[in-house]
Amino acid sequence: MSRSGPRSIQRVALVAVILAIFAWPASASPSGAVRGRNGMVASQHELASQIGVSILKQGGNAVDAAIAVGIALAVVYPEAGNIGGGGFMLIRDAKGEFYSIDYREMAPAAATRDIFVDANGDLINGEGSSTVGYRASGVPGTLAGFELAYKRFGSGRISWAELVRPARILAERGFVLSDRLARLFISYADSLGKYPESKRIFLNGGNYFSEGDVLRQPDLARTLSRVERFGAREFYTGQTARLIATDMARNGGLITLDDLRKYTAKERRPILGTYRGAQIVSMPPPSSGGVALIEMLNILEAYDLRVLKYNSAARYHLVAEAMRRAFADRAEFLGDPDFADVPAAGLIEKAYAETRRATIDPARASDSLKIGAGRPAAAEGNDTTHYSVIDKDGMTVANTYTINDLYGSQVTIKGTGVLMNDEMDDFAARPGRPNMFGLIQGERNSVQPGKRPLSSMTPAIVLRKDGTTWFTVGARGGPRIISAVLQTILNVVDHDMDIQAAIDSPRIHHQWLPDILTYEPYGFSPDTLTVLAALGHKLPERPGYVASATGIMVDLKGVRIGAIDSRSDGAAIGY
Ligand code: GLY
Repeated sequence: MSRSGPRSIQRVALVAVILAIFAWPASASPSGAVRGRNGMVASQHELASQIGVSILKQGGNAVDAAIAVGIALAVVYPEAGNIGGGGFMLIRDAKGEFYSIDYREMAPAAATRDIFVDANGDLINGEGSSTVGYRASGVPGTLAGFELAYKRFGSGRISWAELVRPARILAERGFVLSDRLARLFISYADSLGKYPESKRIFLNGGNYFSEGDVLRQPDLARTLSRVERFGAREFYTGQTARLIATDMARNGGLITLDDLRKYTAKERRPILGTYRGAQIVSMPPPSSGGVALIEMLNILEAYDLRVLKYNSAARYHLVAEAMRRAFADRAEFLGDPDFADVPAAGLIEKAYAETRRATIDPARASDSLKIGAGRPAAAEGNDTTHYSVIDKDGMTVANTYTINDLYGSQVTIKGTGVLMNDEMDDFAARPGRPNMFGLIQGERNSVQPGKRPLSSMTPAIVLRKDGTTWFTVGARGGPRIISAVLQTILNVVDHDMDIQAAIDSPRIHHQWLPDILTYEPYGFSPDTLTVLAALGHKLPERPGYVASATGIMVDLKGVRIGAIDSRSDGAAIGY
């Protein structure tokens, strides 16, 4: 895939990264959002955003930049950035066409329906479970997805090697740890510490890191160097694949060389909806995100939320009831469309939303046990990080990818520096029993060899009535992602907020079961909570944060405005 000499490219790339690191050309707006006239990258690590902008400045397009950002996050944001996981990339090209790439992990061939259930029929805990250790991983899709995106939508002006190299250099030379990352490693010391490679790399062999220390990842640098030289397929068929399969076989894992060789990323048709004339584009199954988002928006469209005001109990009540119904449908109907009949088209029909809305009482919370799934028309024939990129030609990428829990399965594959996902827990390890997010899921999402687990990742692009790109948004946070993206869209469309305010505003989350209305700290007055409780909503004793989002808005003059959630780290950088 390399299209020019490695040494000269290496020097140019290094200079570009260094220049980008010292350049800060975009202006900050009063709300904290960042403005840029040409291009914008908004990700959860400043170094990754800088690398993305440097690719744009070298003539790369938004897809080129998104790939470089994704690989860089695997180095500097190890709790979620990855090459050992998978995700979804939503693309609007410069002509205005939409595409999506599904690079979700796949269950290994040896994974069967009851693999995470013991002889008593109970879910296995600890080693051997769907949440931690070698068995918890699905076959990673990230590099295959990036390779597909590069070949289909890359500009052709930047070589594959140039996209991987900045991340490889960061892994080799190291980067300075923030207080947040140093503390996060320590808070995961018990689980990371059980796996020798994870302990050696992320816990400094048990001595722990402090803010200001430099984290070098030479094994990961060598893996990235192979991917830089030989392309993404190296991960699936080369030395890296052999190292993964060997470590898996030695430790009771399921992934084999054959599983890796057979992994394929897929192009899927994005899911489309409308909300008060704005067009909504998002990810189809095996993500539940796009379907649930559009179903909720359809339910809410009939209410005048603008008049109710964004932080009234009456509005929160209606939003929670829409969430309750869409999550009940998620549990029943959604799964990998390559394996199950998934009535996605029926679930996003406006007429179907009317039937769901008819069961909402504006003066009383429903009981989740009585609100089951609806009856959509039959099937037709479908810890995480989100980042967004918009280039000078308007090409837009919304990418969400994940290794599931923070630090995934906690396992780092020996000799590779690759931290693996625990995405097998996104399957219904036992249909009808809650997973790590408390989500109840059905047979359509049971474990099967080669199947992709249902996801909540919701990369979204919203267009104005005239078809121009208005904003892109996505989030991290399991099922709370869907709620965060929904409320960001409501805040912009109904309440005229700019992208920063829309992302920062307080949020709620309801996922049907458990029947609890989660609300965030600081954002809710006791009066509002009293009214919500009086309506019958079950409020938890303690508030909790509802995901963290990033987004980019394009104003009417074409200025790109990047926003990072005040709930998390990151940087929007434009030029
Ligand atoms: N791993 C979280 C999700 O995909 O929803």
